[in-house]
Amino acid sequence: MTERIDPLSLRGSQRVNMINVPGSTERILISSAQIQQRVREMASEIERDYHGPLYVVSVLKGAFIFVADLTRAIQSIPVRIEFMAISSYGNQKTSSGQVKVTRDLDVNIEGHDVLIVEDIIDSGVTLSYLKRLLEQRHPKSLAIATLLDKPERRKAPVDVKYIGFQIPDEFVVGYGLDYAEDYRNLPDICVLTPEG
Ligand code: PRP
Repeated sequence: MTERIDPLSLRGSQRVNMINVPGSTERILISSAQIQQRVREMASEIERDYHGPLYVVSVLKGAFIFVADLTRAIQSIPVRIEFMAISSYGNQKTSSGQVKVTRDLDVNIEGHDVLIVEDIIDSGVTLSYLKRLLEQRHPKSLAIATLLDKPERRKAPVDVKYIGFQIPDEFVVGYGLDYAEDYRNLPDICVLTPEG
């Protein structure tokens, strides 16, 4: 079951000084240990649902760490890992609403079980676009797994089969997620807040 992160539970949570970014602080929203436990649970659900081979489509850049951990936790079925890059945010904190494929798949997914793996679904614009695009290539099945889901911000409806955590509408970085390309390497998922 998807874990819901309650904002009230964040009071008094650990604050960490930002690295190399003046005027910003962060606090841990989801710890590395919580992420790893949830990733193992999601991998078990996926192992139950597929017999393989499963084509995992990793959406760069944000999903790269999640994909690495999730796929290594899937051991009972054959997995192939393919990469796409899609850009919709530029260097802003909010989506431009414009989706662009900057790197396409170099394999044919026709007749295969395909699982799109994302780090976060926010407006849903990226995933609804990508799902439509890949459906046109006639996979045997097409589903979505995301580590994070911000349901409050949804503009485009997306059917998501596996959700790691539902989170409140706060800007998060770490574990692959960036702000203007910084913070992807943080092991925890942290909230980025400008200092007043
Ligand atoms: C992020 C994230 C998703 C998308 C979700 O990517 O990885 O692809 O935004 O937002 P949406 O639901 O509002 O469409 P981003 O464009 O920031 O690129 P990145 O993965 O390279 O950081």
